[in-house]
Amino acid sequence: MEDARIRQPFVVPFDGGCVRPWASDDAEAMVRHADNPRVARFLSMRFPSPYTREDAARWFAFLQSQDDPEGWAIEIEGATVGGVGFRRGEGEFAHSAELGYWLGEAYWGRGVMTRVVRAVLPVAIRRWGLARVTAYAATANHGSIRVLEKTGFVREGTLRARAIRGGEVQDHFVFGWVDEARLADVAAACR
Ligand SMILES: CC(C)(COP(=O)(O)OP(=O)(O)OC[C@H]1O[C@@H](n2cnc3c(N)ncnc32)[C@H](O)[C@@H]1OP(=O)(O)O)[C@@H](O)C(=O)NCCC(=O)NCCS
Repeated sequence: MEDARIRQPFVVPFDGGCVRPWASDDAEAMVRHADNPRVARFLSMRFPSPYTREDAARWFAFLQSQDDPEGWAIEIEGATVGGVGFRRGEGEFAHSAELGYWLGEAYWGRGVMTRVVRAVLPVAIRRWGLARVTAYAATANHGSIRVLEKTGFVREGTLRARAIRGGEVQDHFVFGWVDEARLADVAAACR
């Protein structure tokens, strides 16, 4: 039987905007903000650079193929300005998810992502019964590191040469957010 909760759209207000499902009419804004090497620099190559309308179409088709999509749009004053996502683990990793996010450069440095992560984290945890959220940030990505520190993530270690993008070898910090109180319940439910 389908779990009705899973079908609820992921719509999360935050101070100044909201996080909501991507729609095909976001394509133009998506390309405008995403087609920027400074945005792509520390992201996975699933986020291409240059970023084209075809890339946006592929992304939307991928999300549509998922029962409960892993990525959402960030909207501020009616404008689509970035994205946030949780890639959920499976099997022994089902209690955990990997957090990722990006914002158009015009919106950097205004506290947006700090507010977004604070807002979506508790909703994601309840929605998927998570007890751990992992996030990777390149050691040179000072903004992302600060976002994670400010939202309660703990720096757990350094992964040397974890990524190579655009010829740049990137060390990454791994950050974890663990809800110790939920762990026992989640573990019991997973027996
Ligand atoms: C990383 C990113 C999401 C940060 O979002 P943001 O909304 O600009 O971050 P905030 O405004 O909430 O800033 C959080 C903190 O980081 C600091 N910060 C932001 N950008 C910074 C930068 N480039 N260098 C140093 N500190 C920075 C802010 O000053 C703030 O710290 P403070 O409160 O101690 O002053 C944004 O820069 C981005 O989208 N970058 C490209 C994509 C990316 O790298 N995604 C993350 C991959 S792990």
